[in-house]
Amino acid sequence: MLFLFTLMTDHVGAADAEHGKALFAPCAACHSERSDALGPNLKGVFGRPSAALLDFRYSNPMKRANLVWDEDNLRAYIHDPQAKVKGNRMPYAGMSDPDDVDDVVAYLRTLK
Ligand code: HEC
Repeated sequence: MLFLFTLMTDHVGAADAEHGKALFAPCAACHSERSDALGPNLKGVFGRPSAALLDFRYSNPMKRANLVWDEDNLRAYIHDPQAKVKGNRMPYAGMSDPDDVDDVVAYLRTLK
């Protein structure tokens, strides 16, 4: 409880995970728990190294990216996937509004 409380107060006035969840709907088309999902499962992605899931076939550029999905890297990738990891094969053009990006990252933090 204390942990949850800290997590939430951390973000007061800043990112909004509930809004992020709504914005995540198009992402969820590919990022789901289904075994035939187009994208890797994002449960626990916050703080995880890039291309870390053994059961997902990542592209070579993603395998070579050598990132940790922290706040800054997630923000940059969601804003402009091709600029952050050139040649990666996520078919998503990017999210332009920086506040929306922050909200999505706040939502990703809640996926455990
Ligand atoms: C049309 C399918 C699709 C959509 C929509 C999509 N993704 Fe992806 N995503 C992928 C694929 C495929 C990869 C793997 C890319 C690679 O290996 O080059 C990926 C990779 C990722 C990764 C890296 C995961 C890891 O394990 O390293 C993150 C983070 C991510 N996506 C977040 C998002 C977010 C947030 C959205 C919505 C704003 C989104 N994606 C929308 C298909 C998609």
